[in-house]
Amino acid sequence: EDQRITRIKNLVGGFPDFPKPGILFRDIFPVLRNPGAFKELINVVVEHVQKTAPDVEIIVGLDSRGFIFGPMVAHALGIGFVPVRKSGKLPGETISVAYSLEYGKDRFEMQKDSLKADQKVIIIDDLIATGGTMAAACELVGLLKANIVQCFVVIELEDLNGKSKLSAPFKSLIKYSNSDQTI
Ligand code: PRP
Ligand code: MG
Repeated sequence: EDQRITRIKNLVGGFPDFPKPGILFRDIFPVLRNPGAFKELINVVVEHVQKTAPDVEIIVGLDSRGFIFGPMVAHALGIGFVPVRKSGKLPGETISVAYSLEYGKDRFEMQKDSLKADQKVIIIDDLIATGGTMAAACELVGLLKANIVQCFVVIELEDLNGKSKLSAPFKSLIKYSNSDQTI
């Protein structure tokens, strides 16, 4: 597993001052461009879930980069997928929360009937920075009274300590500190 993760980490791009000055943007898309690495990444995530949360019932993915991984993992596990979307995109009755992230503010929504009480959920996103995004998703899932068995991200920006905002178990595959080099 370690070797696979190192290979994936070596493909992640780093772009200084994007989308704003002072932000070092970690770009997951070069991994997806490489078919072998893409497959390996999904396999590693699926194996991790099977090992740590075999009784998970549904995957929640976060708009928009969480939509790349969440549905693939759900499909591989043979379970369902539910989106958390940025505001104004979901029809029917919704619940919503405002949140801040590393470089802005936004609003997240879920459909009221999208999760059942006590349902075992893993929330998946591509990356955690300040943790504002993941914490907002946890708040929504909590409002629907589902049971968050894990918050999972591919990339963790460790120096921002986003996981301190979360009360559910947290796991990341690849960690970066500011001292890691850019591309
Ligand atoms: C990015 C990233 C995470 C979030 C992390 O999403 O995909 O969801 O920031 O930041 P935080 O931990 O400080 O909250 P973003 O909203 O920029 O856009 P996206 O639609 O491309 O996912
Ligand atoms: Mg995002």
